Amino acid sequence: ARHLLGIDHLKPDEITELLDLAQDYAALNRRTVKHSDALAGMTLINMFFENSTRTQASFELAGKRLGADVMNMAVSQSSVKKGETLIDTALTLNAMQPDLLVVRHPQSGAVNLLAEKVNCAVINAGDGRHEHPTQALLDALTIRRAKGRLHRLTIAICGDIAHSRVARSNLILLGKMENRIRLIGPATLMPAGVGDMGVELFEDMREGLKGVDVVMMLRLQKERMDGGFIPSEREYFHRFGLDAEKLALAAPDAIVMHPGPMNRGVEIDGTLADDINRSVIQDQVEMGVAVRMAALDLLARNLRASRGRTAVGEP
Ligand code: CP
Repeated sequence: ARHLLGIDHLKPDEITELLDLAQDYAALNRRTVKHSDALAGMTLINMFFENSTRTQASFELAGKRLGADVMNMAVSQSSVKKGETLIDTALTLNAMQPDLLVVRHPQSGAVNLLAEKVNCAVINAGDGRHEHPTQALLDALTIRRAKGRLHRLTIAICGDIAHSRVARSNLILLGKMENRIRLIGPATLMPAGVGDMGVELFEDMREGLKGVDVVMMLRLQKERMDGGFIPSEREYFHRFGLDAEKLALAAPDAIVMHPGPMNRGVEIDGTLADDINRSVIQDQVEMGVAVRMAALDLLARNLRASRGRTAVGEP
């Protein structure tokens, strides 16, 4: 494919191909010299219209480790602040001939719209509550490394499902790979119609966690709640926060995940989040760089093939 906008259009064998390549990049990233020339001569622009630590930093590192010229557009200091639209901003940058554009935007669908207007490859780095495909891919690689497989696992996704693009992308990916998925959270934070997606729904966290292999916690996304239901943090932690007592109901070797940023003491107990015997949260961050290197590499190969030459810039 030309772009990576969501998980929906990826087939299971394409997901496996990307994760296999990411596995190689994870090994490269553990070496002292981390460079490859897979993107040599190419230009990558990061455009983040919403805050980010993990995704922006890992795309920047991924691009640089693959030898691309990387530019991070400082949206808060750009002409967006003078009222320039998303599309005009994208067209302006497109005219500078980038090869890859990584975009995060608070509105669902904004990245798909932008991809129709430019002639480079576009990667969705999170759009509203819609999709965050590279997060689901890095979660998948983390699970595969920890559990030795990415199929026939029982996986609980817990918390604010309604506002979470991470939950949506994971639901699609983990479903495609034939896992059993449980969604756990208050009814007010469940999206309408999710019960028809072949998942099991639980409002009682203790019930939902019984015997699961993977516990994936989510951040309460207050910025997307539009003044609607905002639970008290203390009550929320009591009912839906993960602590050692609730985790004891999962399988004895269950792993704990959180995409970050996390609210310690709201979704997850801080000590448990730091427990390297159960928590793979730092592995998720590490796999983020590897997965983004793999995604950029595969898109660059497709770009070269579509341009009909072996390296960008060749006549
Ligand atoms: N998980 C994630 O997308 O984190 P950032 O918002 O820090 O990029």
